Amino acid sequence: MKKIKRIGLLTRDCAGMNACIRAVVRTASTQGIEVLGIFRGYDGLMYDDVKVLTRRSVSGILGLGGTILKTSRAKHFLTLDGQKRALRTLKKYAIDCLVVAGGNGSLAGAHVLSAKYGFPVIGIPSTIDNDISGTDICIGADTAVNVALDCIDKIRDTATSLERIFVVEVMGRDCGYLALNVALAGGCENIIIPEKKFDLQSICEEITEGNVSGKRSWIVIVAEGAAKAAAIALTITEATGLETREIVLGHIQRGGNPTAWDRILAARFGHYAVTLAAAGAQGVFTALHKNSLRTWPLAKVLQPKRMSVTDFQHLIKTLT
Ligand code: F6P
Repeated sequence: MKKIKRIGLLTRDCAGMNACIRAVVRTASTQGIEVLGIFRGYDGLMYDDVKVLTRRSVSGILGLGGTILKTSRAKHFLTLDGQKRALRTLKKYAIDCLVVAGGNGSLAGAHVLSAKYGFPVIGIPSTIDNDISGTDICIGADTAVNVALDCIDKIRDTATSLERIFVVEVMGRDCGYLALNVALAGGCENIIIPEKKFDLQSICEEITEGNVSGKRSWIVIVAEGAAKAAAIALTITEATGLETREIVLGHIQRGGNPTAWDRILAARFGHYAVTLAAAGAQGVFTALHKNSLRTWPLAKVLQPKRMSVTDFQHLIKTLT
């Protein structure tokens, strides 16, 4: 087997990404492999924005949010021209394997390089949505839950004091992971998620009955992929006659210092990705299943994640 000499590293942004970059660079350095950082995601790969990363250049980044490599939504990579440009850059720098850390868009791009062009790629699932099948958890998701929870706790203070209803929209395009976890941890009364049909009328009835029996504050969590907080809040106000405010947490959830869990996951995934690359693996991504590391085919990255929501939904309703 040919010993690899150079890894390219490209990332999306979420908390824990810098910890992952550090793990990749330092693991590689102990194995005599050089890491080239690809700046601005696939844009940097297409338009040659590449710099060597050393053990020292990744000092002091472990606890920082975002990605020191910067990133982009590089639409041109979806075209043949974009893909050819990317391959030219990989060839120019004699990159033996590309490590891509990101969500399903980034990993789908990695799959194109691997399956269509046969280029060795290893993925690292990193997204606050936690919507990638094959892995129980992605880098960034735990921090996002904690960041959103901190906001919910603060909103709860006002909701209780003013006896008001709040509808809070959290991120999650196709997956209710963030919404379910935040709602359970924050003691929220209802959730609206893409996985389950929701009945707004019965939520309104619950709120009205609660109000009559003395439960005057309420927090409804909405995953962005299921509904818009503004529309839900308007309907609740109209149906119950009670003052309802909406809040969209938005990109706040993608930033912030990574939790201990995300730093540890980033260390494990980053180290594992380099180990896999050095062993000649390709076309796979790192995954965590029942707290053990495993690989999962990049070809399956766009398969919808099957998440069991019923237990959490039941618990949320039982405990409110
Ligand atoms: O996939 C992560 C995510 O934060 C989603 O939750 C959200 O829908 C999307 O990215 C937002 O993308 P952008 O930052 O490009 O607007």
